[in-house]
Amino acid sequence: MDVLLHLFVGLHIIGIAALLGGFLTQMKAMGQGTARFVPGMLHGALTMLVTGVALVGLNEAQGAHVDNIKIGIKLAVLIVILALVYVKRDEEKVDKGMFGLVGLLTMVNIFIAVLWT
Ligand code: HEM
Repeated sequence: MDVLLHLFVGLHIIGIAALLGGFLTQMKAMGQGTARFVPGMLHGALTMLVTGVALVGLNEAQGAHVDNIKIGIKLAVLIVILALVYVKRDEEKVDKGMFGLVGLLTMVNIFIAVLWT
């Protein structure tokens, strides 16, 4: 079970890499107002959702305590990210503010994950 849990933490991190990495590749374009939500960002956000829910289940299954408030906030933030990226996925140019918000919310979730102990 422990191996499975660690495997999903690894997949969770691959999801962050896709979402945040996609954002970082578009930062120069964001400054020019021509950034777009690349497909990897949508796939990364979906990976975060699936692996996050699996991690909650795996933790519960082995009797470990999961902080419901922390997870609830992370889930709410991710739903906003997913909604924005999904709705605007086909747009060639995304408004600077909206694009920046997705990067900011991703980083907020990273720091909630690592600082909220
Ligand atoms: C953009 C969205 C997200 C980011 C950037 C993110 C980031 C992270 C990071 C960096 C970790 C490893 C550090 C730690 O163990 O605390 C982690 C772990 C975890 N995440 Fe997320 N997460 C996101 C979304 C979610 C969602 C939506 C859920 C649940 C529905 C979730 C559930 C978990 C759980 C349960 C762990 C703990 C794994 C363990 O140590 O057993 N995450 N997350």
